[in-house]
Amino acid sequence: MRRGVVIFLVCTVVFLGFAIHNVWTLLSLLVVDGREDAISRAELPAPNSGAISERPQLIPKIIHQTYVNESIPQHWQGPQKSCLDLHPDYEYKLWTDKKAREFIAAEYPWFLETFDGYRYPIQRADAIRYFVLHHFGGIYIDLDDGCNRSLDPLLAYPAWLRRTTPTGISNDAMGSIPRHPFFLKAIDSLPDYNRRWLLPYITVMASTGPLYLSIIWRHYNSANPQGNDRVRILFPDEYNHHPWSFFTHHLGNSWHANDVKLIFWMAHHWILLTIIGFTLGFALLWCLYSTFIRQRQANAQKGKFAYARIPFYRRISQKDIELNDRHEV
Ligand SMILES: *[C@@H]1O[C@H](CO)[C@@H](O)[C@H](O)[C@H]1NC(C)=O
Repeated sequence: MRRGVVIFLVCTVVFLGFAIHNVWTLLSLLVVDGREDAISRAELPAPNSGAISERPQLIPKIIHQTYVNESIPQHWQGPQKSCLDLHPDYEYKLWTDKKAREFIAAEYPWFLETFDGYRYPIQRADAIRYFVLHHFGGIYIDLDDGCNRSLDPLLAYPAWLRRTTPTGISNDAMGSIPRHPFFLKAIDSLPDYNRRWLLPYITVMASTGPLYLSIIWRHYNSANPQGNDRVRILFPDEYNHHPWSFFTHHLGNSWHANDVKLIFWMAHHWILLTIIGFTLGFALLWCLYSTFIRQRQANAQKGKFAYARIPFYRRISQKDIELNDRHEV
C-alpha cells in the first residue's frame, strides 16, 4: 500500500477510536436495558392485595415535589392530590425555588455556586431532587405524575429509578434511602457535567436531567457489578397504563421549547439523518481525496514524476499528458 493510504487509514482508525471512546457510555445505553435490576411485577403485591408485605420498609415515608412557589397550577392539582390522598401517612415536602436554595445553602454549601449558576431554572429543579433524596431519602414525584396506588411496596428497595423508552432512565419518579451511594454519586458528579451545549434541551438533559442521570447510572453500575447497593429499575408497565401500575402520567413537561421539537423531529427521522450524515461524510472524504489526486496530477504535469503515483487511480503516462496537452491547444 502507498504511504498516503496507510496514513489515511491510521488517522481514520485513531479518530474513530477516539470518537467511540468518548460516546461509549451513550452507546452502551442503547443496549443496556437494566432488566437484571428490574423490580419484577411478580414480586409486587397487587394494588388491593390483602397479603401483608413482610418486606421491611427501608425508604422513609416522604414524598418530595418541586415547583416555583406554593401556587401549583390548576392542571397539576389533580395529580398532586391523587398522591396526597393515597398517602395520608407520608410526610409531604414541596420544594419551592426559595426553599430549595435555602436547603442547598445550609446543607450542601459546596454546591451553591453551581446551583445559582445554572442558566435554566429546570436545571435547579433537576438538581434539588437528587440532593433531597440523598439527604432525607423518600420518593420524588414530578408534578405531572399522579399516583394510581399506594407506593408502600416500593419502600422495600434501597433505591429505585424508572426505565424510559427507548433508552435510559428518567428522573421524574425515583426513590431512595438517605445517603444511598448512587445518589451520592449523582450529586457529587453534578459540577463536572455542568457544561453548555448548542441546544438548551441538550444542555439541560446532559447537565442535570435524565440523560445525566442515565450516564451516572451506567458508570455506577460498571463500578458495582454485584452487591446489594444496585439500583432497582421500575419498568414502563409498572410505571403507568395498567391497573397495577404505580403512577398516571398527565400533561407533558412544562419547559419544552422549540429545540425539543427539533430533537423529537430528529428522533423520528433518524434513518434519513443517518443517511445524510454518511453521504456528507463520504462527500467530504471524496473532496479531500480528489484534491489530493489533482495535486499529484499537477506534479506529474510539471514533470516531477514520470507518472502520477496515486492510490486506487489509473497511472497517467507521460503520453496521456502530451495527448491532453495537444487537445487543449
Ligand atoms: C408562582 O409562580 C407562577 C409561575 O412563575 C407565577 O405566575 C405566580 O404569580 C407565582 N405566585 C406567587 C404567589 O408568587
